[in-house]
Amino acid sequence: MGSFQIEPSAKIDSVHLNVCNIDQSLQFYKSFLGFKIVKNKSSSVFLSPDGKPPYLIALTETMTKNPNTKNAGLYHFAVLLPQRKDLANFLSHLLQHGDDVRIDGFSDHLVSEAIYIRDPNDIGIEIYCDRKKSAWEWDNGQVRMTLDPLDIKGLQNDATQSWDGFPTGTTIGHVHLHVSDLAEVKKFYSEILGFKNTASMKGALFFAAGDYHHHIATNTWLGKDVQPANSHLAGLDYFTIKISHDMLNDLIKKLNEHNVPLTRLEDNSISIFDQDKISIHFIS
Ligand SMILES: [Fe+2]
Repeated sequence: MGSFQIEPSAKIDSVHLNVCNIDQSLQFYKSFLGFKIVKNKSSSVFLSPDGKPPYLIALTETMTKNPNTKNAGLYHFAVLLPQRKDLANFLSHLLQHGDDVRIDGFSDHLVSEAIYIRDPNDIGIEIYCDRKKSAWEWDNGQVRMTLDPLDIKGLQNDATQSWDGFPTGTTIGHVHLHVSDLAEVKKFYSEILGFKNTASMKGALFFAAGDYHHHIATNTWLGKDVQPANSHLAGLDYFTIKISHDMLNDLIKKLNEHNVPLTRLEDNSISIFDQDKISIHFIS
């Protein structure tokens, strides 16, 4: 079996989240964050920056509870803003409403600047913007990412207007997952799915398609005894990765070579589970 690489244009397309109370979640995602509804379908609501397709987030009300076990799944999903001024505008909005929202932190990762918050179901959300690629530091295929404090004052000074929701061009830049075993992760995401391992740090591995810093991050920070992902809990149901039709066919061959079970879905897409039973849909 030769080395398999996912195509450079592969990217995270959307996250599907299970929530306990759709009205409570919409209060947060719509009224506070400013997402707009693309469509309602049965018990799910689909959200995008401008109310037009494609959606970025799907919320489904389920008979779930917040987990009281340590399960593999979402550490956070990350909403990528087009420009630094957008992050500055969001920061001002957040600080004005800080009492209503759980803020996890602020970080300068060198490749990006990031704000971490939590939704009503304790689902982690990163809101971030990238620095110019020319500022990223690569060494032998590994990109340098720091955990420095964010320049909050400097960012606040770049705010241009009051927050009016996410600008067009906002995407899901990456997902960050709790997993049980990094060696297994590397085998699955790198050897089988063909993502490049772009960075490693204590208990964490980062993977990307093309020349991005990372589309998928994984960590074992919950400990080794983490249980498999459980889509009956509030949190991640699945995330989707967009690839071309040809790439999907190549990937299906690769999954078959490795005996990874897959389910064919409508619209030229498949669903698979990773090594920790986290559900991934590849769509083309
Ligand atoms: Fe992240």
